[in-house]
Amino acid sequence: MNDKQRFAGKVALCTGAGRPEGLGEAILKRLAEEGCQVVVTDLGKPQRHMGSEHIGTTQEMEQVAEEIRASGGTATTFALDVRDEDQVEAAIAHAVAEFGGLDFMINNAGIGYLIQPVTEMAKEQWQAVLEVNLMGAFLCTKHAARQMLAQGRGGRIVNIASEAAKNGHPHMAAYTASKHGMLGLTRSTAIELGGHGITVNAVCPNHVTTGLGAVQNEYFAKYKNMTVEEYLADMRNRIPMARVGRTEDTANAVAWLCSEEASYVTAQGINVSGGAVLY
Ligand SMILES: NC(=O)c1ccc[n+]([C@@H]2O[C@H](COP(=O)([O-])OP(=O)(O)OC[C@H]3O[C@@H](n4cnc5c(N)ncnc54)[C@H](O)[C@@H]3O)[C@@H](O)[C@H]2O)c1
Repeated sequence: MNDKQRFAGKVALCTGAGRPEGLGEAILKRLAEEGCQVVVTDLGKPQRHMGSEHIGTTQEMEQVAEEIRASGGTATTFALDVRDEDQVEAAIAHAVAEFGGLDFMINNAGIGYLIQPVTEMAKEQWQAVLEVNLMGAFLCTKHAARQMLAQGRGGRIVNIASEAAKNGHPHMAAYTASKHGMLGLTRSTAIELGGHGITVNAVCPNHVTTGLGAVQNEYFAKYKNMTVEEYLADMRNRIPMARVGRTEDTANAVAWLCSEEASYVTAQGINVSGGAVLY
């Protein structure tokens, strides 16, 4: 356990946090290290469009929570499909029942593997991406904000957007539209909730080789007629900090946004991209 316990007494819920080596796992481990009580949520079971190779399973969620507890932290799990409003309400009620409230809502669940030229993309694929990446973040924001407003002690909502919230990418129209939309959600809700001490920000990471990131590497390496190694080397060459992102880069940014130091920072889309995105 870290000596610095700046999140003691706080409660965080993160969506899509059950997949090993994912951003959600790193975020919750980071918050828990500093004393935050955390709710690890994820789909748990495969769904339409999402085979078990793309999701955080019940067993994996439990493993994340167990690792947090083994390091001296406090964690519980909850199966949550962010597209289901009743489940969203139930997950927040679970955080309140287990830990007495909710301080940090991290909207991290995302689909990034449905990659298609726009001329080939089925309406169902578009909907699948938008429903998880954007509607899910809206539903979680809505119910987390209700809980935070009722508590009257402020709060933090952090949306895990992407470099794709600011740039276009071929074959990723649905994904980039969803992440651009997430910035709109961030800005509007930040204005609505600011007077109640609730900040809302987005973090925009560039490429991180998570489960989702690995699928994108495979696809785009093939698209560019490169090996995955060549594709990653090419990416590194274009990033000022000369490396791709790591899960802890995003986790550090989220921890800062949740801290008192960031209490006057809201409505921002913060790049964590080694300088790859300049605005
Ligand atoms: N890896 C990258 O390069 C990268 C870069 C920028 C942004 N992001 C974003 O970071 C977030 C986390 O992605 P990751 O890279 O850690 O990949 P990941 O695959 O490890 O995490 C995505 C998680 O979302 C969950 N999920 C999917 N549909 C869901 C639903 N309906 N309800 C609840 N959970 C659902 C999956 O089960 C999975 O655990 C995503 O929003 C992604 O778009 C990733």
